[in-house]
Amino acid sequence: NPVGTDLRAEIDRLRRDRNAIILAHYYQKPEIQDLADFVGDSLELSRKAAETDAEVIAFCGVRFMAEVAKILSPEKTVVLPDMDAGCSLEDSCPPDAFGRFRAAHPDHLSLTYINCSAAVKAHSDIIVTSSSAEKILNALPRDQKILFAPDKHLGAWLARKTGRDMLLWDGSCIVHEAFSETELLKLKALHPDAPVAAHPECPGHILDHADMIGSTSAILAFALASPAQTIIVATEPHIIHQMQLKAPEKQFIGAPGADGKCNCNDCPYMALNTLEKLYLSLRDLTPRIDVPEPLRSRALLPLNRMLDIAA
Ligand code: 13P
Ligand code: SF4
Repeated sequence: NPVGTDLRAEIDRLRRDRNAIILAHYYQKPEIQDLADFVGDSLELSRKAAETDAEVIAFCGVRFMAEVAKILSPEKTVVLPDMDAGCSLEDSCPPDAFGRFRAAHPDHLSLTYINCSAAVKAHSDIIVTSSSAEKILNALPRDQKILFAPDKHLGAWLARKTGRDMLLWDGSCIVHEAFSETELLKLKALHPDAPVAAHPECPGHILDHADMIGSTSAILAFALASPAQTIIVATEPHIIHQMQLKAPEKQFIGAPGADGKCNCNDCPYMALNTLEKLYLSLRDLTPRIDVPEPLRSRALLPLNRMLDIAA
């Protein structure tokens, strides 16, 4: 390691010296989750970023999440341990193409999943996360035409759940698309009493076998509250770390990919952040997130609508 000493102790020292807060998503490596000040889902992390009085936010997640922190707290320094930590959903929705899509449907309100770039947010009316989407959708008039981007699976699930017809952008998460229905059915046959908790970024053929569908926080709460001893978890498997910490007596099994194993579903973008890169980002205050004006103010509007309605 770069300091030849205990990275955790050095990170702690820098966190104090810099008046920094370390925010981590549930998909981060266990060693990052363990030293974070707060671990949460996308909505909770946005709220924390908006509320904190720390001067520096070290965001252990992916770039769009760190961008949200900067949009909500422009006066703070926001660092992301690895600037290449992107997201396949963000990549599936280029801002120019999305702008044309919007312009082609001027009578539609644009409800946009937070997993997108600041430029796509700036083209949007209301941002949603998986934990806030249903509430926000239900707050909109029934006759309001809606387009939903970029996740077609989350969009299709929301449409089914709320009975609303939405125009869907064709984007998806490579991690949640990698679950295998055949392997999941085999796993269920081995554990007939184990409920399946799934993230709505999963395709419909996986959600069809789920006993519970929700955001990472909702999946965690379900896994802890369930009377079942074994729970099958169909989302990025690093969340299982929190489950094992809080309920060590239970068994949590990650849903498998086509090879029958669960670790092929690790998010490759989330995995780019390491303890060493976190240390360097706190030491050097780089890579730093910058969202220039007027992009930031435009992206802030739909984000604030989400925070207001979801409150
Ligand atoms: P949530 O934590 O909001 O459920 O989002 C999951 C996700 O894919 C983040 O990239
Ligand atoms: Fe993006 Fe999927 Fe990774 Fe979440 S798990 S950051 S949606 S690629």
